[in-house]
Amino acid sequence: MANGVIINADVQKGTIDRNIYGHFAEHLGRCIYEGLWVGEDSAIPNTNGIRNDVLEALRKLSIPVLRWPGGCFADEYHWKDGIGPREQRKRMVNTHWGGVVENNHFGTHEFLMLCEMLGAEPYINGNVGSGTVQEMSEWVEYVTFDGESPMADLRRKNGREKPWSLKYFAVGNENWGCGGNMRPEFYADLYRQFQTYVRNYGSNKIYKIACGANSFDYNWTEVLMRQAGKLLHGLSLHYYTVPKTWADKGAATGFPVSEWYSTLQATLRMEELLTKHSAIMDQYDPDKRVGLIVDEWGTWYNVEPGTNPGFLYQQNTIRDAVVAGINFNLFHKHCERVRMANIAQTINVLQAMILTEGAQMALTPTYHVFDMFKVHQDAAALDVHVSTDMLEDEGGALPQISASASKAADGTIHVSLCNLSHDSSADVAIDLRGTGGIGFVDGTVLTADAMDAHNTFEKPDAVKPAPFGSVTGQGSRLSASLPPMSVVVLAIKA
Ligand code: AHR
Repeated sequence: MANGVIINADVQKGTIDRNIYGHFAEHLGRCIYEGLWVGEDSAIPNTNGIRNDVLEALRKLSIPVLRWPGGCFADEYHWKDGIGPREQRKRMVNTHWGGVVENNHFGTHEFLMLCEMLGAEPYINGNVGSGTVQEMSEWVEYVTFDGESPMADLRRKNGREKPWSLKYFAVGNENWGCGGNMRPEFYADLYRQFQTYVRNYGSNKIYKIACGANSFDYNWTEVLMRQAGKLLHGLSLHYYTVPKTWADKGAATGFPVSEWYSTLQATLRMEELLTKHSAIMDQYDPDKRVGLIVDEWGTWYNVEPGTNPGFLYQQNTIRDAVVAGINFNLFHKHCERVRMANIAQTINVLQAMILTEGAQMALTPTYHVFDMFKVHQDAAALDVHVSTDMLEDEGGALPQISASASKAADGTIHVSLCNLSHDSSADVAIDLRGTGGIGFVDGTVLTADAMDAHNTFEKPDAVKPAPFGSVTGQGSRLSASLPPMSVVVLAIKA
């Protein structure tokens, strides 16, 4: 068999919501503190406390939406601890992540300022596990109410006259686990109660997101849709790619070939999750009003040796780039239901875009995939049929290629392709149907010559995108030769 991709450019399968390229930044390890926030007095160049190098790099990604403050941290977070003069803010213990002191210097104002600087929609995750209905209700009032009220007046006292716009709000996080160890029936009732008091003030309309399932827990989705489906706009899903077991997840670098493939096998299971959770949602919501919000995804390895186990700091290699490419192709395919996805996490935690150490910064291979794929944001998903050679691995067979395509507002067709093989190139025949033929083709490739190739502060450009020359075309057909371990994006002017 050979690898082939048929693209029906005149058959559109929905819009790829830009929020699929969303991010997640938690008070965990060095994501917020050091990664984003260094404080106004830092020697590291910053703007209002946010480090400039990181800001510049993130702006380039056109981040559509940023989720905060957690994660597990969200259900221990009391937002009033993080407002007012910074030196007077409560110092607390981040019990979930490393037991370190949380000085609350990065709070509601700083987060919403960061979103404004990035041009990203804020997505705030409220506290159900250890918070109250009143606390959640007042947070929304503080952020979005324009008139005279205790919370709006407090906001003004703290220096912000006008309310912010806040669209995305989640009622709890992982309430089946760190967010309270609840049963779905109990959480669904709490969701119904808490969300009642998440008010729309003035023209601010909140898109309410309920805590969804842990990976393969289909019963959770069933119960939530049945008991609360009419009262929510989005239902979350969390799924992490773990190469081995939760007790020994495998290393981020220096791993054997078997873990290259077990990682990709685990990633491909996202397809099963999207299909099955969507099928349950379809029973209650056939018109697909409710979005599936994959607000935590990415690789999770053993932490880097010598680092705080509670900080979840890991390196990021070409393997992570292929994982990101596969996930995006799947989110595109399921874009009618998947309206948002947030990679865990933006900086220094899990599958990060950026790693920092003091004043140093390195962009990861995953960063480059986000940059290459951003052309799909808000584009029309096209009908794509993939035929692929299969790779044999001890964990079973897996496809050699993954692909998706979209059409941008200016008519450009973007095709994204991944070669999952660690050692063989993939020749792919692309048949672009439903257009008048192929005009100009441009391409970018991200690849490497070792499975764990990665960027360091000393060699920040070891893995970086390059022009892709291995593509030829005639009429409506293209031939592309993908190197092993690669992610490619083609731009086709039809
Ligand atoms: O992203 C790290 C953690 O993973 C989050 O805090 C939690 O929601 C999940 O278990």
